[in-house]
Amino acid sequence: MDHEIEAVSKSTVPGLLEKKLRGERITCLTAYDYPTARLVDEARLPTGEYAIDLVLVGDSLAQVVLGYDSTLPVTVTEMLHHVRAVRRGLRRCLLVADMPYGAFHRSEDDTLANALRFIKEGGAEAVKIEGGERRAPLIGRLVEAEIPVMGHLGLTPQSVNTQGGYHLQGKNLESSERILTDALALEEAGVFALVLEGIPRELAALITTRLRIPTIGIGAGPDCDGQILVLHDLLGFSYGTPAKFVRPYMDLKQTAGEALGRFAEDVRAGGYPADQESYHWSRAVREQFEERPARRR
Ligand code: KIV
Repeated sequence: MDHEIEAVSKSTVPGLLEKKLRGERITCLTAYDYPTARLVDEARLPTGEYAIDLVLVGDSLAQVVLGYDSTLPVTVTEMLHHVRAVRRGLRRCLLVADMPYGAFHRSEDDTLANALRFIKEGGAEAVKIEGGERRAPLIGRLVEAEIPVMGHLGLTPQSVNTQGGYHLQGKNLESSERILTDALALEEAGVFALVLEGIPRELAALITTRLRIPTIGIGAGPDCDGQILVLHDLLGFSYGTPAKFVRPYMDLKQTAGEALGRFAEDVRAGGYPADQESYHWSRAVREQFEERPARRR
């Protein structure tokens, strides 16, 4: 019986494709550790339905959690550490591990070995790879090894040096055509979904209608089949200027900062911990203590 319940609510690769066919929007967020994984996995809509379909352990963790100024330094080993923690916190969301910079740039064999680590050691159910048509053979190799792959086009943060910063992509017709061609090539290579980041709404809408697989937008307008945000951006727990597309649903930095201030105030005033927050000797121990000669107390 439990298995049936799991099967109904567990998010899967074919399940996402079916969502696109049914015209249901796909909800995705990043998570980087056990508590954020549980938060996302267990979140519900006001109707009681589970809220989020897919969790990405994004290489954005390099900036969001590890404090680097780009995603480039994070390694497969560091990513794996976080993927495992997220795995332990998920029961129903589909878990996608981001292949960090350098994990798929050496050779097909090396790429396959790294992707297999995410599946076998990390418990991921899919991997994500940034880049267009030239990644198609690599993606084909992973798909052949039964590893579902998510593509990622447009503003691809691992290309910060070649794109000359974090800039909107597909601003003119020529680069829009390039991105559309890349999208079609990735679908042909076998990706099960495609992240579209930092492109004009019109281009994202065009790609979404041209592809059978779902598109997941971030800074790509509302016409994609789904949306993804960095969890810390949504919670207002990021440092730095948020991008235009970020909608913070709360100000966790402010709320948490106030809580820390109240803690310090209580400690300084001797108001924390209170007696009911303290452990006590049993009455027997207290009596034993009181029976001792005064000099040994
Ligand atoms: O690394 C990441 O978090 C991502 C998403 C924002 C798409 O790639």
